[in-house]
Amino acid sequence: MKRTKIKEILASEAYDTDVVVCGWVRTRRGSKQVAFIALNDGSTIHNLQVVADIDGIGEEALRNVTTGACLRVNGRLVRSQGKGQTVEVQAASIEVLGPADPTTYPLQKKGHSMEFLREIAHLRPRTNTFGAVLRIRHHMAMAIHTFFHQKGFFYLHTPIITASDAEGAGQMFQVTTLDVSNPPRRQDGSVDYDADFFGRRSSLTVSGQLEGELGAMGIGEIYTFGPTFRAENSNTPRHLAEFWMIEPEMAFYEIEDNMDLAEEFIKYCVRWALDHCADDLHFLNDMFDKELIARLESILQAPFVRLAYGEGIRILEEAVAGGTRFEFPVYWGADLAAEHERFLVEQHFKRPVILTDYPKEIKAFYMKQNDDGRTVRAMDVLFPKIGEIIGGSEREADFDRLQTRIEELHIPMKDMWWYLDTRRFGACPHSGFGLGFERLLLFVTGMANIRDVIPFPRTPKNAEF
Ligand code: 4AD
Ligand code: MG
Repeated sequence: MKRTKIKEILASEAYDTDVVVCGWVRTRRGSKQVAFIALNDGSTIHNLQVVADIDGIGEEALRNVTTGACLRVNGRLVRSQGKGQTVEVQAASIEVLGPADPTTYPLQKKGHSMEFLREIAHLRPRTNTFGAVLRIRHHMAMAIHTFFHQKGFFYLHTPIITASDAEGAGQMFQVTTLDVSNPPRRQDGSVDYDADFFGRRSSLTVSGQLEGELGAMGIGEIYTFGPTFRAENSNTPRHLAEFWMIEPEMAFYEIEDNMDLAEEFIKYCVRWALDHCADDLHFLNDMFDKELIARLESILQAPFVRLAYGEGIRILEEAVAGGTRFEFPVYWGADLAAEHERFLVEQHFKRPVILTDYPKEIKAFYMKQNDDGRTVRAMDVLFPKIGEIIGGSEREADFDRLQTRIEELHIPMKDMWWYLDTRRFGACPHSGFGLGFERLLLFVTGMANIRDVIPFPRTPKNAEF
């Protein structure tokens, strides 16, 4: 007989039929006569109650039925007499597929701290919390693909290994097959990358954007959705060294179109979570963050605030004058820290903010320059609890301006010829942005640390599992 998933069983009304269920024991309680086993197979946050009459099943068969063990249960689906569930399975036989020694199995019934669970990241998918987070993560990926597909965007696979630093921030992980302890050298002593696998110095990508632009300028509207890598040594609850990013790129979009798309996109994802992940969200709401669902619903209500960076700075300066204290200074030209972003969103406007027209010095070379000579058509979407969730811009479409900016920043021009070609041949206004997938998940799950919304976090000094 085929096994039925617990999610289906719990929704079933096929009383008095025979079923096979498999899963891991969450708890076992009961008496000498009867054992109540809470079984979970990951298909849902909810457990199935398996009732085992010890006389019928035999004490021996139940000996290894302990927390963490994996079972296969043959039994009968019945209406539950007890509280908390409508159906349960009356076991006819129980096979222990994999025992779990209760003296060494690390996950016991009591709640564990998130820090402890990070140390056993290989086992945490078996907890309620990570089950919920991982299911929501899946649903958000589905929402993203559905959103863009329905809008006629094409999913473009941009490379993971690249020779260009898209953000120009120099935070790349190098990829090489050279013997790093003894690399071939040129006359002047520098490493000879001609001899490396790709014949040039190569790295893991920090962003798929530049290649995304190439795609958009042929097939119109594309999005990427892949892993990106940053060797920034920032040990914060919002940074990972390996994270997933969604980067739409659109020909014929100006900055306002870009903002409209970003807002519609995030709202679509949040709506999807509320519609498809209700059980998991209720669990997280009850366990961690009593305002989670209300916060998700609230961002759907009102339009996001749209504000120029200069206005944002003025509001922050007024706040400082009024006694608000920030760790980092506020002045025109400053790169905003999460505390500033969150002040604007949480204290001042009380809804998401799209900040535009940043000073060009603190933004990447590819952003469209405004006529004032000092700002660019950047847009960052700022969210409650998170700060920056999206970064994007209209792109500089003018060949001369782009080339000048590349020169000013000393970006090696010979490496950028292919990018400049899109401005040389058939240039057009275009725009795009990047959504940090784990930042979105932080918002949607209410988790406080980005390490807890990705199955296997990569952070400084941490890549064990
Ligand atoms: O603002 P960023 O650096 O923008 C880009 O990479 C552009 N190329 C995007 C584009 O226009 N196509 O990163 C975009 C987003 C941030 O807003 C943030 O949500 C996320 O990526 N992000 C990180 N998430 C986790 N860990 C990190 N270290 C992150 N760095 C950026
Ligand atoms: Mg950014």
